[in-house]
Amino acid sequence: MKAAIINQYGSPAELHAGNVPRPEVDTHDVLIRVYAAGINPYETKIRSGAMSLFMSNDFPKILGGDCAGVVEQVGIMVTDFRPNDRVVAALGVKGGGYAEYVATNEKNLVKLPDDIDFVQAGAMPIAAGTALQALFNKGHVRPNDRVLINGAAGGVGTYAVQIAKIQGAHITAVCGPDGVALVRELGADQVIDYTQTDFTKLPETYDVVFDAVGKSSFEACKGILTEKGVYITTTPSPEQFLEQVVTTFTSQKAESIMFSFTKEDMNWLLKQMQEGRLKSVIDRTYTLDELAQAHEYSETGHAKGKLVVVVKG
Ligand SMILES: NC(=O)c1ccc[n+]([C@@H]2O[C@H](COP(=O)([O-])OP(=O)(O)OC[C@H]3O[C@@H](n4cnc5c(N)ncnc54)[C@H](OP(=O)(O)O)[C@@H]3O)[C@@H](O)[C@H]2O)c1
Repeated sequence: MKAAIINQYGSPAELHAGNVPRPEVDTHDVLIRVYAAGINPYETKIRSGAMSLFMSNDFPKILGGDCAGVVEQVGIMVTDFRPNDRVVAALGVKGGGYAEYVATNEKNLVKLPDDIDFVQAGAMPIAAGTALQALFNKGHVRPNDRVLINGAAGGVGTYAVQIAKIQGAHITAVCGPDGVALVRELGADQVIDYTQTDFTKLPETYDVVFDAVGKSSFEACKGILTEKGVYITTTPSPEQFLEQVVTTFTSQKAESIMFSFTKEDMNWLLKQMQEGRLKSVIDRTYTLDELAQAHEYSETGHAKGKLVVVVKG
């Protein structure tokens, strides 16, 4: 089968299309014919070697943590899926989405309704799931809460604005000048251009500050949190873990999010999409031959919404 592979860690140029054997299907696995796969910043970190401590030493590697497609084959113990089912999956650090086929455990996927297209769905699992889990599980966002989303124009941020809107929050979105119109269209009530204004120095306070791009810190945001306000980052660090421990004893909280796929969350996201309240904002699409360009663009840190590799049109 065709896949975008790396034979060693390195620059985006290491990513190239090649032929590799189709994955084996274990007893609890589902083999998916991939139609579309989201591209996520952590995949650029795997490719570069920055996450090599957490990875196996096997090469070639196929990256890609998200995918949507059609079931080709199921393992003998799989009962909930059958060939030709449309599905969407989160593949974990093992990846495999940048390929014509990927095999993954049945616990990593849900069925995809017929009225949601593969690109919209394939973009979603990690970025939308992270936004949902940050706002609901860590921020406990409720109607009328004042929520600030930093990095609102990015992959996680564009979903976060829409999810906070669904929850009835008042949303302040922080992005650069090119993202202002987009985040307003997604539902932001107020927009701050970070190139003009430092949001941490403004007088307004927020129940939740969700730093979707991890460019700020709890320390910098303390002054804009309400008395029981929560700061949540997508980029935990040792200092940040220390803050989390310390703030278990204070009313303001420092939190971080580590995405973990659940079928319940994925089905909730798909329902919002079906009912027209949530969409994937697609910045650019690529083919399996163009993953090096996709990683180069992702590494600029200025993608708007999601990048997706379209494997089968
Ligand atoms: N912990 C987890 O489970 C988890 C899960 C998913 C993602 N993440 C991490 O979350 C981060 C964001 O992911 P993503 O997919 O949203 O990334 P992304 O799509 O690449 O983010 C790009 C966006 O970041 C914005 N941005 C860049 N610098 C900014 C700044 N100083 N202030 C505000 N916005 C800024 C850009 O807006 P402009 O172009 O307007 O500057 C752009 O729209 C990544 O580090 C990723 O690895 C963590």
